[in-house]
Amino acid sequence: MSGATSKPKVYCTRKLFDQAMEILESVAEVRFWDKEYPPPREVLLNEVRDVDGLCCLLTEKIDREVMEAGKNLKVISQVAVGYDNIDVEAATERGIYVTNTPGVLTETTADFAWALLMAIARRVVEADKFVRSGKWTIPWSLTMLLGSDVYGKTLGIVGLGRIGSAVARRAKGFNMRVVYYDIYRNKELEEKLGIEYREFKDLLKEADFISIHVPLTPNTRHLFNEEAFKTMKKTAYLINTSRGPVVDEKALYKALTEGWIKGAALDVHEKEPTPPDNPLLKLDNIVVAPHIASASTETRVKMAVMAAENLVSVLQGKVPPNLVNKEVLKVRPLKS
Ligand code: GLV
Repeated sequence: MSGATSKPKVYCTRKLFDQAMEILESVAEVRFWDKEYPPPREVLLNEVRDVDGLCCLLTEKIDREVMEAGKNLKVISQVAVGYDNIDVEAATERGIYVTNTPGVLTETTADFAWALLMAIARRVVEADKFVRSGKWTIPWSLTMLLGSDVYGKTLGIVGLGRIGSAVARRAKGFNMRVVYYDIYRNKELEEKLGIEYREFKDLLKEADFISIHVPLTPNTRHLFNEEAFKTMKKTAYLINTSRGPVVDEKALYKALTEGWIKGAALDVHEKEPTPPDNPLLKLDNIVVAPHIASASTETRVKMAVMAAENLVSVLQGKVPPNLVNKEVLKVRPLKS
């Protein structure tokens, strides 16, 4: 019998949460990489050979080679909002739908940007290490572990998308003045959030805290370089929950050790995992986390379910709710 009714095939580069696997398995034959870490390149290239859909994380490089290997690929569903690991142009050329998971992680990520901001300003991580290491030998002291105030300061948001806006909203509770820079000025949102637009350089000069929320593109790679750090206030802090390469870490190291800025808090790194011998990790005026800004159980389940739904839509011949490459509709149209 020819397989006229056979199910489409899907490969996932990780096992997703059960709720998401069930959605995929309801329409497809699903294989997955059963480890916490990404599949080796040769495994990925081999697994995509016969599949209609690929579900991946931001840790996999999904380039032309992968798409060439996956001759039947119709959809690449990323379990993340950022998709700089995917060659979207190559996908569009081949009529492959690319989807992501926007919205569901906005508030969780904004919360974490704030957690990092508070941690670096008030030296929370240093204080924890200080107590545990037995260095707390005198009682309350006027000068012990002095940090910087957050309340009433100026917050600079670089990239006023969903997450940048959510970070800005939270600043009202701290009576902060909020300025933002984005390639698109959005006067309606400025009014709604009570925030002001600044050119990038002016924002650097003015903000006490700068929180980065831009996608990684050729234009934003190393946006924070030596020149940017030299322009910032000596008392300012940088918070990055976007993508590591937006910050030039060598320049950041100079900025932190030569006193160009006061501190930095990074959830994302130029290389992930960041090597343990990264000189930044030796500094006290930095807080680091292993790319976990969206890592609440609720949010990660929502992301996985959303990715599964996106993928299944395409397999069922429908335009997926979170389509990244709208131009693909001209190359291989689907029902809306
Ligand atoms: C995480 O970094 C994401 O892009 O969702």
